[in-house]
Amino acid sequence: MSGTLPQNLLVTGGCGFIGSNFVRFWLSRHPQCRIVVYDLLTYAGRQENLADCWAHPNLQLVIGDISNQEQVLQVCQDHAIDLIINFAAETHVDQSIVRPLVFTETNVRGTHVLLEVARELEIRFHQVSTDEVYGHVPEPQQRLEQDALSPRSPYAASKAAADQLVQAYFITYGLRVTTTRGSNTVGPYQHPEKAVPLFSTNALLDRELPVYGDGLQQRDYTHVHDHCTGIEAVLLHGQPGEIYNVGTGAEIANLEMVAVILDTLGKDHRLVKHVKDRPGHDRRYSVNVTKLRALGWVPQYTCQQAIAETAQWYAGHADWWQPIREGSFRQYYQEQYSARLPDTGA
Ligand code: DAU
Repeated sequence: MSGTLPQNLLVTGGCGFIGSNFVRFWLSRHPQCRIVVYDLLTYAGRQENLADCWAHPNLQLVIGDISNQEQVLQVCQDHAIDLIINFAAETHVDQSIVRPLVFTETNVRGTHVLLEVARELEIRFHQVSTDEVYGHVPEPQQRLEQDALSPRSPYAASKAAADQLVQAYFITYGLRVTTTRGSNTVGPYQHPEKAVPLFSTNALLDRELPVYGDGLQQRDYTHVHDHCTGIEAVLLHGQPGEIYNVGTGAEIANLEMVAVILDTLGKDHRLVKHVKDRPGHDRRYSVNVTKLRALGWVPQYTCQQAIAETAQWYAGHADWWQPIREGSFRQYYQEQYSARLPDTGA
């Protein structure tokens, strides 16, 4: 798709973690483009995530649900949208274990609605997916984009279903689609339900860090900046119908992730507490990123650098995360961790 840069973007989930980082990134790289952020502003989608951007003349917010076909259609028509980038999703595995149906509603039905609108108005479509669709990857294997999907949590299954719909719309209708499958992404504005921000903020509060099981699970922790440049490379140079993995291409154990956080923040390693494991916990994710690199994309951060920089960001932004931890997150934290940790005051 080289050469034609879409001018009017609908960024669904643009107030969430990766979505808001992408919006900020895109405005700085392509300030002539107009962006409509379409977001339901659920617990993880927060206008504050783009507080420094709302004054930009080419950015605006529409509050809405991706499952609402009428509204999505209207917004796309009103703003002459020529590219939909779908970041909107329920994304936390632990939440999908306790309330799985909302994941099907948003991640599967919501994506399907967007595809229907894209088909009707002939709008290019990009799906932001995840490496979790491949399921556990035994060492020393790495997953390629054409490998079979083997999701193992309700979250991963919902994202895999959405991926299949995206491909079906390419094959059946010739819709111009692309997909990126990102690995564990870290950086500014990630909700503290996820491991790296949870552990960073717990450490800053001198609370224990609840490490599931033996902590030897492996993840490819990728900085959100690299995730954004990966999506940009696909939007500028990717081929319709193609899928691209995004990650550093190397993974580390969770215990190493924890050690980087504690060392970065100057905290005692005795804060680590091994707790009851997550049901169906995938042991290892690993993606091969050769296909994305062939588009000219080069990641800037190792896993360790990405985690350290993220921990530093949380150390400097208590004004952002403290209200979240003191709000509705407190109840979630107690439900999720009270049986695991004696000290669950959020
Ligand atoms: O791989 C990409 C995926 O990465 C994304 O699609 C998901 O949206 C994102 O949530 C993430 O999934 P994980 O389950 O790997 O991320 P999470 O941050 O929840 O956990 C990272 C690792 O840390 C995982 O092995 C579970 C572990 N963990 C997590 C939490 C929340 C703990 O040991 N203790 C915890 O309290």
